[in-house]
Amino acid sequence: MKVLGIMGSPRIKGNTDLLLEEALKGAKSQGAEVEKIVVDKLKISPCKEYLGCFKDGNCVIRDDMDDIYPKLLGADVVIIASPMFFYGVSSQAKALIDRCQALWARKHILKQSLPNSGRKGAFIAVGATKGKRLFEGAILTVKYFFEAIGVEYADELLIRGVDARGEIKEHPIALSDAFELGERVVQAKKA
Ligand SMILES: Cc1cc2nc3c(=O)[nH]c(=O)nc-3n(C[C@H](O)[C@H](O)[C@H](O)COP(=O)(O)O)c2cc1C
Repeated sequence: MKVLGIMGSPRIKGNTDLLLEEALKGAKSQGAEVEKIVVDKLKISPCKEYLGCFKDGNCVIRDDMDDIYPKLLGADVVIIASPMFFYGVSSQAKALIDRCQALWARKHILKQSLPNSGRKGAFIAVGATKGKRLFEGAILTVKYFFEAIGVEYADELLIRGVDARGEIKEHPIALSDAFELGERVVQAKKA
């Protein structure tokens, strides 16, 4: 069982990172092999709409996404974690997501089936404010991302009112909730 964690914040040991770490610990406690990628450390160009992927399902841009596509397709569980930036996911996370147009093209243009049906996905998000609709846009983005890579949107952890670096450690339940999400999503994949 392989779990891929996508860390979408530029802030190492920030709130997103700490939440994802806990989720991956939870996944590991259930016997999963876990890997975390820190998107901000990678060279990922935004999608340029060259649309080469419509011909053969492969992006024509050569950068660190070359290594990410097989990880996305090889994981049994994908957990994407992002801070809320202007009511969406971070631009780091969004660049990776947009480049998955190549996988979307395999499925929807070239009618290829993606591997490992029954794969699960989970979304972790954290924002500073407390608005009811804070996560709506990002949830839609992540649902569509998961659909493109052939993963079911199975779980989420959405934390409001956390702003300063590492402030999540003062939250009464967020980190334990993240651990439990990691456990749950692995159990869901096993079921
Ligand atoms: C560019 C930028 C945009 C932000 N936009 C929002 C927002 O729309 N809504 C919100 O609640 N918080 C917003 N925030 C606050 C972050 O979501 C918050 O500080 C979060 O805890 C950062 O998580 P991190 O430590 O993982 O980076 C924004 C922060 C930055 C830097």
